[in-house]
Amino acid sequence: MKISIIGSGNVGSALGRNWLNAGHSVVFGVRNPESPKTRKALELIPDAVVKDIRGAVSGSDVIVVTTPPDAAAELVKEFGDVTGKVIIDTTNSIMKRPEPYPTAYHAFKALTINEDIVKCFNSTGFENMLNPLYKLDLPGNPELGIDMFAAGNSRRAKDVAVQLAKDCGFAECYDFGGDDKVELLEKFALSWINLAIMQGHGRTLAFKLIKRKQ
Ligand SMILES: NC(=O)c1ccc[n+]([C@@H]2O[C@H](COP(=O)([O-])OP(=O)(O)OC[C@H]3O[C@@H](n4cnc5c(N)ncnc54)[C@H](OP(=O)(O)O)[C@@H]3O)[C@@H](O)[C@H]2O)c1
Repeated sequence: MKISIIGSGNVGSALGRNWLNAGHSVVFGVRNPESPKTRKALELIPDAVVKDIRGAVSGSDVIVVTTPPDAAAELVKEFGDVTGKVIIDTTNSIMKRPEPYPTAYHAFKALTINEDIVKCFNSTGFENMLNPLYKLDLPGNPELGIDMFAAGNSRRAKDVAVQLAKDCGFAECYDFGGDDKVELLEKFALSWINLAIMQGHGRTLAFKLIKRKQ
């Protein structure tokens, strides 16, 4: 896939590195491509292709937003024509909201003509996006892939998110529901933040759905 990642911070660089390793074409779209901050953020990916936001978006089929959520309205102006492109929103409106919308997902839905939008890659820490494999404390230390979740009404956008989650190394990417579950998926992310940070369990924990065999 031709992917533009908007933002080159923790989440953007983690996802970008894995998708490049999986063979996708990745271009980072940032406010200031030449800034030392951008280069530092992308030191995991020395040969990263970095452009301004419009330039990155124009050549891509999939736009992955990894900025603070309140940048959403400003980003829509920068994107240009998004017809036919899938938008993946990784943001969580915890500290800041893209007023008057509850989440960036809702802002993209309202401010673009695009329906192919999905909330995904928001429900775990960036370290888990960089490495979604956990060694189990069992004989032979087998590795287990953790899970990702995607919400929104667009089947097409979800199918793209599922493929990209698997290409990133997640074991599964479960359908979390439609537009009515987008805010719940942000609350799910807040549950991870609560456990990892507020309750002090540390950022090396992750969600895995377990189903009993009948
Ligand atoms: N950190 C996590 O573990 C984690 C996990 C799940 C979801 N998230 C969500 O993912 C998003 C990114 O988190 P992060 O930790 O990757 O943040 P980060 O490391 O601070 O990176 C944010 C990126 O967004 C860019 N940016 C900021 N404001 C912008 C604007 N108005 N227009 C365009 N670009 C802008 C920054 O570029 P500049 O250099 O130009 O400032 C930077 O490249 C947040 O919404 C967060 O809620 C984070």
